[in-house]
Parts: sequence; C-alpha cells; structure tokens
Amino acid sequence: MLDRLNHDQKKIVECNAQQAQKEEIMTQNAQQPKHATSRRSFLRKGLAVGGAGIIGAGAGAIGTELLAGGISLPAFAEAGSGSLTQGDVAILRFLAAVEIIESDLWQQYNELGGIQDSEVPGGSGSAPYIAGLLVLDGDMSQYIHDNTEDEFSHMNFLNAYLASKGAKPVNLDTFRTLPSSKATGAQQIGRLTNLMQLTVDTSWWTRYRSSTKNPDFGDTFPQAIPGLFAGQFPAIPRNDGDLSPKDHIQAIASTAGFHFGYIEQGGSSLYPTLAQGVTSLEVLRILLSIGPVETSHFQTWHDKAGNAPPLTDPTNGLVFPDLNAAPFGGQTFQTNLIMPEPTIFLSRKLPAVSIIRPTQIAGSGGAVATIKSFTADGLFIGQPPEFFAVLHNLAEQADAARRG
Ligand SMILES: [Fe+2]
Repeated sequence: MLDRLNHDQKKIVECNAQQAQKEEIMTQNAQQPKHATSRRSFLRKGLAVGGAGIIGAGAGAIGTELLAGGISLPAFAEAGSGSLTQGDVAILRFLAAVEIIESDLWQQYNELGGIQDSEVPGGSGSAPYIAGLLVLDGDMSQYIHDNTEDEFSHMNFLNAYLASKGAKPVNLDTFRTLPSSKATGAQQIGRLTNLMQLTVDTSWWTRYRSSTKNPDFGDTFPQAIPGLFAGQFPAIPRNDGDLSPKDHIQAIASTAGFHFGYIEQGGSSLYPTLAQGVTSLEVLRILLSIGPVETSHFQTWHDKAGNAPPLTDPTNGLVFPDLNAAPFGGQTFQTNLIMPEPTIFLSRKLPAVSIIRPTQIAGSGGAVATIKSFTADGLFIGQPPEFFAVLHNLAEQADAARRG
C-alpha cells in the first residue's frame, strides 16, 4: 500500500511538471494575436481578479482586467444586445454567490489535498491528508484540482457576464473572515467557509438509488454514513495534530470524500431548478451549460466516496460502515450503483425515469433551500447575521424569478 501511495505521489509530482510545461506553451499561445487568447489564459486573468479581491468592485475593474486578457470592452458590448430581466439577473447573481462559496471551499481542499499549480490559488499540500484521499482514488488530487478550477471559472464567468450586461456582479469579500486550517500546507488567509466542523448530509447517496421515491414528492431518504450527520467533523486537518493516528486522518479524508458528493449534487439540482425561471435564451444556455458540469463532478465524487474504507475514528468514534454488507448493502447502499436509478417524476402515473432530483421550482433544490442546506452543513459557522441576510436576500430573489 505504501509503495502504491509513493507511486501515486510520484505521479502527482510528474503531473505538476507536465502542467508547468503546459503552462509555458499556453503562455506562448497567449502572446499570439488577440483572438487567439486561450481559455486558460482567460481563466487565469479572471482568477487574478478574484485573488486580488477586486471582482465585484465594479464593471470597470473587471473590464480593465478582461482588456488585459485580450478581450476588449467593445467586443463585450456587441455580445450584450438588450438588457436582462430582473429575474434573470437575480438567478445569475445567486448562482455567482454559490460559485464564490464553492470556489472558497474547493480552494481549501486543493491547498491541502489537490495539485498545486498556477491554475488555482495554492497551498503546499499535506502528505498524510493526500495519502488518505488517495485511498479513495489514485487520481483524487487531480480531480480536486480540476473541480477547484471549474468553480473559479464558473464564478468568474457569471460575474463577468453580469458586468457585461450592466448588472452588478457579486462580491462577498467582506465576509472572508473565517480561520484557515493551521495544518502545514494551508495558506493563512480569511475564508468564507468552514470545513473543520461539518455535519455532512449523506442522504444523496440513497436518494439517487431509490426507484420509488423523489424529494419533489416530499420523500425523505436514509443516511449512507449516519455518524457524519450526527455531529461535527473536520473534512480537512485542522492542524498537524490531526495528521495521526492513521484512522483519524483517513476519517477526515473520507469525510471530505462524502462532502464532495454532497456539495456537487447540490449544484446538480440547483441549476435545473433555477433554469425553469429563466427568461433569456442566452441565460438559459449558460445554466444548461454549467449545471451538467456540476453533475459530472457529482458523478465522479459519488464513485470515489464508495471507496472510503470501513473504520472507526479512534479520536471521536465516527463510523464509516461497510456499505456493501448488512445492515447496509443492496439497492439502497451498494457502492457500485452510482448511476441515477429510474424513479417517479412529475406524476406517479408516468413510468419511472432516470433523472436529477430534486428539480421542482422553488422546491428543495431551489435557492433558499440551498442556503439552508449549506448552513445546516456547517459551512457558514462563524459568519455574522449580515452574511446570512445577504445570502437569503439573493436566494429569495432567485427563487421568485419566473419566465417572462
Ligand atoms: Fe460550479
């Protein structure tokens, strides 16, 4: 096992070198004429804006950065024919806020567990935490990196699109006050989200395996890891004291594994739910193009979480059961049943169908429900009432949007 881990860590180092080489090629490409600006170059520029805390300061600041990235403001003006409805702006602003939150939490995971390169804001990694993650899959660090990069791109795109339409981008920078992990490898900066006291709802596991129930019909679902929903647990090491004993740091990595699935299934429902309130075809296209990426993340994490080894954390008693053995196992828990099981949709009279669930507009996959769920998850522990007021206001407006 140790050999395999060493091999995997070597693979990550090699991969970092390849990324660096790729970066160099892309830097060369970026020096090509304006129209040849690469996707990644665009993203990096956007990232620079976010990292400097300027995003959302106003369309002017973003416009200047985009200009530096090779995209001129007149080009934006051409793209922006006609203004958006209030409802479309509300939906896009709420989604921008969610993507800011996702970027913040994924950055924390990446600093300690992902691949460090110039595509995402980095830490320096935690070898014992990475070793725990690699038990779930040898490519976990790459996947964490890529999920992080995707969320930053969603955040930057949505805010830039809002600005291009003369709408106000979202900026939550004043709430970046929560503490960082003190474990070696994490940056010491203010955070929007907490990953060190999580209560992870793992009912998505059984919800996607049910052939007779759907949350849009009011149905509820059992937890895959009941212990994770019955206390507060770290999903990243809080400090270097969390790096041992082995079953403790493994439990932290496995908690992260189930939290990844929880976060990304939320996005999988949020986009199709809000899409039903969109008026502009172009805004609909944005939601239909980003939403399924959240689902591709979810599908990946759903597969990896099932590899969490059965164990009991000796420091706090948290149990990761064998999901393939009694009293678990079967259709409801078996770890290789990762494709959404066909279930009831719209009407019980219609045949079962394999679908994303929930998606009822303003229902349990909606904007307010998402903020409630993130709050129950513990993501916002330590945030002041003003933070919740801002998020609830954005969420209520997004849920109120209807096709014009
Ligand atoms: Fe996203």
